[in-house]
Amino acid sequence: MVYPIYIYGSSVLRGEAAEVDRDYPELKKLVEDMFDTMYASSGVGLAAPQIGKPLRMFVVDARMYADDEPELADFKRVFINPEIYGESEEEVVMNEGCLSLPGLNEDVQRPEAIRIRWFDEDFNEHDELIEGYAARVVQHEYDHLEGTVFTDHLSPLRKTLIRAKLTAMSKGKVSAKYKTKLVK
Ligand code: NI
Repeated sequence: MVYPIYIYGSSVLRGEAAEVDRDYPELKKLVEDMFDTMYASSGVGLAAPQIGKPLRMFVVDARMYADDEPELADFKRVFINPEIYGESEEEVVMNEGCLSLPGLNEDVQRPEAIRIRWFDEDFNEHDELIEGYAARVVQHEYDHLEGTVFTDHLSPLRKTLIRAKLTAMSKGKVSAKYKTKLVK
């Protein structure tokens, strides 16, 4: 099932998401639906709040970028109750976009690598050092669980320059190739 994507201005994108219980009903169905929704909107990552569910989980699939970064060849993952507990001092700038902010792309500076613990959909625990583009995607999705979107990281000047676009978006003026929803 493909869900509509909640757009900037929706309150679910601004709250702190709740931990996922081990006995969360039909968790695997939800994971499958999140992948379906992400693929339907050509995304690389999707966090549960973006489909209106304030839960600490996100999915990523960056395998299509494996030509440029070979380590992404198997980078399809489900992150449940993740915890980023370490960050590299080195930061890098990369251009980001977000399914919840269609049409906006901005350069964002973030740590180059992170250490993260999480559970997969079978509640097996994982603990890894993730670097490069994969780390970028994971940090962006993790932000969604904290009520943060990528434009929050921009300089005051950049924020001023895109303010009109954000205001329009939060009033429902969006054009996207996928189903969207705005719930204040
Ligand atoms: Ni996003």
